[in-house]
Amino acid sequence: MIDLRERVAVVTGAGRGIGRAYATRLAAYGARVVVNDAGVATDGSATDEDPAADVVREIAAAGGEAVAHRGDIGDAAVGNALVERALDTWGRLDVVINNAGFGRPRMVFNLSDEEWDDVIRVHLRGTFVVSRPACRYWRAQAKQHGTTYGRLINTASGLLVYGGAGQSNYVAAKAGVQAFTEALATEMAPYGVTANTIMPGANTRLAQIGWRMARQRADSGGSEQFDPRDPVHVGEFGAYLASPDAAWISGQTFQVRGGIVEHIQMWSVRDTASADGRGFTADDYRQEIPRLFGAAAKRADPPPPEWKAGSPT
Ligand SMILES: NC(=O)c1ccc[n+]([C@@H]2O[C@H](COP(=O)([O-])OP(=O)(O)OC[C@H]3O[C@@H](n4cnc5c(N)ncnc54)[C@H](O)[C@@H]3O)[C@@H](O)[C@H]2O)c1
Repeated sequence: MIDLRERVAVVTGAGRGIGRAYATRLAAYGARVVVNDAGVATDGSATDEDPAADVVREIAAAGGEAVAHRGDIGDAAVGNALVERALDTWGRLDVVINNAGFGRPRMVFNLSDEEWDDVIRVHLRGTFVVSRPACRYWRAQAKQHGTTYGRLINTASGLLVYGGAGQSNYVAAKAGVQAFTEALATEMAPYGVTANTIMPGANTRLAQIGWRMARQRADSGGSEQFDPRDPVHVGEFGAYLASPDAAWISGQTFQVRGGIVEHIQMWSVRDTASADGRGFTADDYRQEIPRLFGAAAKRADPPPPEWKAGSPT
């Protein structure tokens, strides 16, 4: 049975959607949670909303413990403050889920500097500035006590697998998160800290409504009870990865939605041609490169875009 009663977790972007599901499910299994959210719109623009406070109330109403943290995780000072909040409140930190993010879909020929920078900042820099103080803390704990409990869970996207036309800023950021997480899995292994990536699939405000309705019926076999796009299913997987049972899993990537979990293999070598001790010439490549493609696996059908906004312009 999953038991997180001794654990303290930080979840970014936890006021809505998938982050809220992580926070509420971690709390349901006993974790105390710092619920971060900047309360921004789907394009990252500021609003008056404070969804982190709502989620803290929801967790408290269900008998759990949580504190709200309103801040923009693209800011390094906010990343540090978030980790300090866990330590000041409960004296420890066991789990970090970097989830916050937004999108600015646009074809590259129309993409502005600001749209590029803001999306890279929230996903990639935001993941870095929270992971760094957490890893510093876990390393210090391991050195002091000989052991520590550390679970880092970062958020990529299935668009890395299926392609992301109109989302070049977003997939570039998510590829960075993916590579960053794999590097941290190696760097933090000596301290017993795991780092894994989730590619979530859930019906949030960012998800495409039309696709959800059509697909939901197909996935559920017509049942109205089971909604595979409910973020709760991703929340359950986050709780599993955060748990002691998942101590052996690191440097891995999982695509998750209700009722389906896929173990994703990233950056694999598809096929190799060797010139046996000499260099290939440009003419050799005319033979060799088509041969490499001949052995390529068939690509899976791409899913529709995940963002709610209409087709990027
Ligand atoms: N929904 C999907 O199917 C899907 C698919 C692939 C990846 N993702 C990823 O999952 C994560 C969560 O997305 P969601 O669908 O739940 O979206 P959402 O909009 O429902 O929730 C995201 C939350 O993050 C917060 N946030 C945004 N920028 C922030 C910042 N700078 N600092 C702190 N909080 C901030 C928002 O206020 C919001 O509450 C994102 O990283 C997204 O890219 C989602």
